[in-house]
Amino acid sequence: MNTSTVSTAQLRRWPEQRDARIPAWIYSDPDLFKREMEVFYEGSTWNFVGLACEIAEPGAFKRSWIGTRPVLVVRDEDGTINVVENRCAHRGSMLCWKNNGVVKDFTCPYHHWSYDLKGNLLGLPFLRGAMGKGGMPRDFAKGEHGLRKLRVAERKGLVWATFDESAPDLEAYLGDEIAALIDRATGNGRLKLLGYNRQLLPCNWKLYVENSRDPYHATLLHSFFLTFGLLRADTAFKAVPTLGGRHAIMASTYSAATASEKNEVTQQLASLKSDFSLQDMDMVRPVDEFGDSSMINFSVLPSVFFQQHGNSLAIRHVIPKSESQTELSWTHYGFEDDDETMQNRRIKQANLMGPAGYVAVDDSEVLALMQPVAQSAPDSVQAVEMGGRDYAPQETMLTETLIRGFYHYYREKMGL
Ligand code: FES
Ligand SMILES: [Fe+2]
Repeated sequence: MNTSTVSTAQLRRWPEQRDARIPAWIYSDPDLFKREMEVFYEGSTWNFVGLACEIAEPGAFKRSWIGTRPVLVVRDEDGTINVVENRCAHRGSMLCWKNNGVVKDFTCPYHHWSYDLKGNLLGLPFLRGAMGKGGMPRDFAKGEHGLRKLRVAERKGLVWATFDESAPDLEAYLGDEIAALIDRATGNGRLKLLGYNRQLLPCNWKLYVENSRDPYHATLLHSFFLTFGLLRADTAFKAVPTLGGRHAIMASTYSAATASEKNEVTQQLASLKSDFSLQDMDMVRPVDEFGDSSMINFSVLPSVFFQQHGNSLAIRHVIPKSESQTELSWTHYGFEDDDETMQNRRIKQANLMGPAGYVAVDDSEVLALMQPVAQSAPDSVQAVEMGGRDYAPQETMLTETLIRGFYHYYREKMGL
């Protein structure tokens, strides 16, 4: 028997204490990565692809991704939204390499095949050849050579798509709890684009999923949060995995009254810098815009994290590039009804997030520390036991229950 085969099979056994352990080989295996893209991104899931307001007029398009597959989100002449694969039906060139714009049709750069806004093939040069030579066969059917069309759902100003014709409806995929939170985060659905951040994280996509389902680290790593009291371990908090660990909710309550209180929690914080202040304290003084004193952040598998930090609202789009690289694309938004003060507040507080954000930069740095170690020690095993070994909902930030929930769901879908 080939020894390398034995070794791989042994490494690929998920450790005992299943939801509470994570084997490091899952962060660096290219074959596993390929299967994850098929199961989670191209499979029976709904993926966020953009905001409807990004493509307001007929012919407006946005380039987006579902996992590693490029797609185009396009406003049709009749106002509907189409999502088509950004891959020419001829020989597979990326059809459009611009991030956004307004067009009448799409023409491939390679041999100039052109497609309408629905993805139907309009025409191609030299269909009948030239000088009596060349050209397509007489029975070439243009109707059979369009772009791949995806199923699309629009809800409250957000656009979702799936490659799977038989996927359940978007609402069933989200579940009631997540659908209600999306409604909260999108209000009347009249969203206004405020801007973008993009960054390339040098890590596997699941390390980012873990990070975004990990309130425990936020109480320690993010000294900006602690110093200005935006998020602390004594904050009233709920960590709720939904639909068997598929999605995850983190809901905290902010209180300006306790933001600078010293107690048992603050004594354990090496990164608390209580003598620091800001020239502009509006950065850390949110307005209670939803009327519930809550900051609710939640993840929708596989590709999106809804962020509410203060009044900074954003959708973080997780775009895996390879087993060791992940693009994170942030879409910051507000509402058409916002007054100027609120819009400026959102933009100012957005400085907490993004690649150089006062808070988010910590995550990028720590994830960059994790990936090379995971790659060099694939047979190592991580423990996720904070708050127990199951994935029940909990009312504390000091828990890894959402990570355990994610891996419970992940293993079920991957058959691991
Ligand atoms: S690859 Fe697009 S026209 Fe040939
Ligand atoms: Fe973080």
